[in-house]
Amino acid sequence: MKTQREHFGSGTAAVMAMAGSAIGLGNIWRFPYMVGENGGAAFIVVYMLSMVFISIPIFLCEAVIGRHTQMGTIGSVEKLGLGRGSKWMAALTVISPLIILSYYSVVGGWSVAFLVKGVVSGFGVGAGEYFGSFTSSVWGPLLCHTVFLLLTAGIVFGGVKSGIERFNKISLPALFVLIIAIATYSITLPGAGEGVRYLLVPDFSKLEGKTVLSAMGQSFFSLSLGVGTILTYASYMKKGDSILRTGAGTAVFDLLFALIAGFAVMPAVFASGIEPGSGPTLIYETLPHVFAGLSGSLPTVSRVVSIAFFLAIVVAALTSSVSMLEVGVAYLVEQRGMTRTKAVAVIVLSTWALGCLCSLSGRIFSACDHLVSNYLMTFGALLFTFIAGWKMKKSIVQDELACGPMFKVVYFMMRFIAPAMIVVIFVTNLII
Ligand code: TRP
Repeated sequence: MKTQREHFGSGTAAVMAMAGSAIGLGNIWRFPYMVGENGGAAFIVVYMLSMVFISIPIFLCEAVIGRHTQMGTIGSVEKLGLGRGSKWMAALTVISPLIILSYYSVVGGWSVAFLVKGVVSGFGVGAGEYFGSFTSSVWGPLLCHTVFLLLTAGIVFGGVKSGIERFNKISLPALFVLIIAIATYSITLPGAGEGVRYLLVPDFSKLEGKTVLSAMGQSFFSLSLGVGTILTYASYMKKGDSILRTGAGTAVFDLLFALIAGFAVMPAVFASGIEPGSGPTLIYETLPHVFAGLSGSLPTVSRVVSIAFFLAIVVAALTSSVSMLEVGVAYLVEQRGMTRTKAVAVIVLSTWALGCLCSLSGRIFSACDHLVSNYLMTFGALLFTFIAGWKMKKSIVQDELACGPMFKVVYFMMRFIAPAMIVVIFVTNLII
């Protein structure tokens, strides 16, 4: 029995779903601390350049493949009649988002815990210590990881249109409202000017090889590339919707959100005299403390701001985790003939188990992150540029992109620039 493939209701819905996948912990949690560690605005400039020259072309490769075949990753490779090697690589891209999902939902779980704490008791002076003692305990993080995965499963279970599309259509505008409100609050704090300057004035003397690599890697991670998410979502796009507009729209929303998140985090960090380069735990350890301590006389305001902040993180993480889960679900439904319910259950159970290990062991957590960010995403991205740039007929790619005279430039970037840069990043990362 062949059921009709579901599609997003409109081009706007497709952009919102992809932007939802792109906007996530990477924007709120990773971007501000990377800016902090790498010297501010100079990093942002390099980030924007790598978005245009590397990440958007890869995005287009994935989208062209998915929209053309109307299938998920492995289905696409089969439909295009590619060899065994490609099929193995495609199988990897089904596994990668599940590995990401397992540790991503652990961090998502922390945010759930902070949100609940904000609502129930608020953050006192000991907010920083709370993070440390919470993440090193056993049951709390496990419970929150489970809750986060169940929320993800509930949305994906609803299907492409009434689950994923509907959730993103409500969440994305809500996320922007929340983060703009928080940034406004943060910028108006006494002493925040230093943080704004930090984000806006480029200091190119701080640019080293490592900074450039981090910026490229971050733009890649932030657009959810290399693991078949964009490919799978594009396979739910209708023929008439523009791929180029979707790619550009997703990148613009993603960048805007990351920048506003930077303005929500950095001024507050500076206003309270905290070191901006304090790494991945920046938002968890410092922000509740910042929000709790700053508005002193107005505890309700700081309480509301911290709740809004953690609510934004939970929702942003959910719109991404949903897209990770959908890759595997699409595979099981399309290629293995499973029902959606069963497919969701199978994948959620396996990622839950791996996630529990990540939650209990920092080493397993980092190993998963390292494996995916440094290897699997790279191989996946290379595979997609290879398929769209070299294996598919040029006329088909041109037809899918439908971008008139710009095609020559875009196609050149997809075929040469993007894969060459991926190899450069990969090799340099291995060496240094
Ligand atoms: N882009 C997401 C974020 O910024 C994270 C992410 C990386 C992702 N790879 C992905 C999401 C693959 C979905 C699928 O948080």
